Amino acid sequence: MKNIAIFASGSGSNAENIISYFNRTKSANVRLILCNKPEAKVLSRAERLHVKSVAFTKAELDDTSRISDILKEERIDYIVLAGFLLLVPPALIEEYRGRIINIHPALLPKFGGKGMYGDRVHKAVIEAGETLSGITIHHVNELFDSGDTIFQATVPVTATDTPDSLAEKVHALEYRYFPEIIEQEIQKSEAAEK
Ligand code: GAR
Repeated sequence: MKNIAIFASGSGSNAENIISYFNRTKSANVRLILCNKPEAKVLSRAERLHVKSVAFTKAELDDTSRISDILKEERIDYIVLAGFLLLVPPALIEEYRGRIINIHPALLPKFGGKGMYGDRVHKAVIEAGETLSGITIHHVNELFDSGDTIFQATVPVTATDTPDSLAEKVHALEYRYFPEIIEQEIQKSEAAEK
């Protein structure tokens, strides 16, 4: 069975949803949560769900060696970014080429790039007068939000939407689709290995 590590920086509601999904389906195993913010809520979620967690600094991420060692020790096959706000360094991309998946809370290529995360994205979508937003699940490369798209789903943006109400609609899509798309990607690569 393939092992997943989730990188997260904040609340971790997607991380929790992914853990619950794979606890139910048993098609993969979420073995580790990695987090660059020692006070992030995702760490208390990990504790409650009995998933091992590791906090690290940006310098440790950029240097890669400690994180890379931990990923090896835990025999991690896949990395999932779920609300992770730092750029993944090239050495890690190289090690996990094609096996790092991110979710972005808008329809890329619009509203992506450095600094575009969480509510900032929803605010920008509303300010631009968009009538559609959604989620993009994509492979991760060396640049922010620019790897190959795996999946998109949309929600309407209405005239009364606020960043909070749009975030709620987008989160619902994330919970609905992200775990299944991760599962499908893992199954595809397992089939290719045979
Ligand atoms: C999610 O909406 C995710 O798409 C977004 O952060 C939120 C994290 O929520 N990610 C980005 O904006 C990445 N650019 P969560 O911590 O409750 O899962």
